[in-house]
Amino acid sequence: MSWSPKSWRDFPIKQQPTYKDINRLKEIEKELSTYPPLIFAGEARDLKEKLSEVANGKAFLLQGGDCAESFANFNAANIRNLFKVLLQMNMVLMYSSGKPIVKIGRIAGQYAKPRSSDFEEVDGVKLPSYRGDIVNDIDFTSEAREAKPEKLLEAYYKSAATLNLLRAFARGGFASLDKVHKWNVDFVKNKDLGEKFEELACKITESLKFMEACGIDIKNTPQLSQTVLYTSHEALLLNYEEGLTRKDTFTGEWYDCSAHFLWIGDRTRDVNGAHVEFFRGIKNPIGVKVGPSMKKDELLELIDRLNPENEPGRLTLIVRMGADKIGEFFPPLLRVVKDAGKNVVWSCDPMHGNTYKTESGLKTRDFEKILSEVKQFFQIHKAEGTYAGGIHLEMTGSDVTECTGSISSSITAEGLKSRYHTQCDPRLNADQALELSFMIAETMKDIKN
Ligand code: PEP
Ligand code: CO
Repeated sequence: MSWSPKSWRDFPIKQQPTYKDINRLKEIEKELSTYPPLIFAGEARDLKEKLSEVANGKAFLLQGGDCAESFANFNAANIRNLFKVLLQMNMVLMYSSGKPIVKIGRIAGQYAKPRSSDFEEVDGVKLPSYRGDIVNDIDFTSEAREAKPEKLLEAYYKSAATLNLLRAFARGGFASLDKVHKWNVDFVKNKDLGEKFEELACKITESLKFMEACGIDIKNTPQLSQTVLYTSHEALLLNYEEGLTRKDTFTGEWYDCSAHFLWIGDRTRDVNGAHVEFFRGIKNPIGVKVGPSMKKDELLELIDRLNPENEPGRLTLIVRMGADKIGEFFPPLLRVVKDAGKNVVWSCDPMHGNTYKTESGLKTRDFEKILSEVKQFFQIHKAEGTYAGGIHLEMTGSDVTECTGSISSSITAEGLKSRYHTQCDPRLNADQALELSFMIAETMKDIKN
């Protein structure tokens, strides 16, 4: 079967906006296709190599960020705070597992959202649903909800600027291990949690002193002063993804240069649909969300379509069942993939299967359920003799109140209202994310993952 960046257009597609001005959309697509790529194909290959280490049980994947980035909240503080909490979690997980952590942000392009309904109705007024800032605006007016082609370009520029700052933080000294104490200052709100991280930071500082005595120091060892944070998003709006798909001059292969890693959501993963068609031709490392409705045969078919050479690192399966369902639905899928000898990274998204609405109508998730799904994910892998390779979280570095529970934040259903800022799904705040990483670290130790 031949493939091109636009061959997806011949397949049935879900979750797309309706643009009124098709000519304008075509002009924008054309313009986008002349813009510089946001990533270099070689970086995507490096990430695939690192993910192959995850598939082989030698590294662990930490992927996290906003459910939906927003144009309005595009600022340095938000980018820095997410980066900082990811660095802290990285330290916690690396120290306890003794393995490298592959870090991927849901950032610098996470602008398109699938929705459960095409329309939203409020007080008898029916308007198209908000589909993310790359498509339309969140306000409930017909003007705001109209899909505007120009937003593809704004998403591109905002992704480019976000990625630029991330690269500067990663390479410019911010992530240097001699700054580990500073990531904590004025940041972790809960005192006990702050102290727990400080204890770990002191151990890292001690190790650095020892290594310095051996002649290995921050100045002569970039591994200690720099890090790499890869970018990712759900490649939902294929007009945008096609526009940034380029042939690599070194290998002649196609890469979607909008991010290092792209995934297909649980609602658009039809084996015969447009998204799978697009993904099969790009060489980036990719992910597929796996929800409770996934059938065994369907999963094997998807794996063969997306990773026909069975290359480790190419495909990450992001399991999002819900704490009450994972025990029933995940083990049969895991077994069938294991028995077929398929090389995949298994990652756990404990967010999307645990969403519910409070009495006052706010979407939330409870920390206990999130933790429970993660623990079961590890236990199931232990029982099957397979490797729990990673974690996929919706989180922010800001002090929001969107998910209930946790020891550090103790947010109640009533307390959610005070700083509920998400554009889409509820995120863990910085303290909750850090606390969860300590608990994952303990689970890993108990289970000897
Ligand atoms: C998401 O990751 O924000 C999302 C929509 O997830 P899923 O496709 O698993 O529902
Ligand atoms: Co979400």
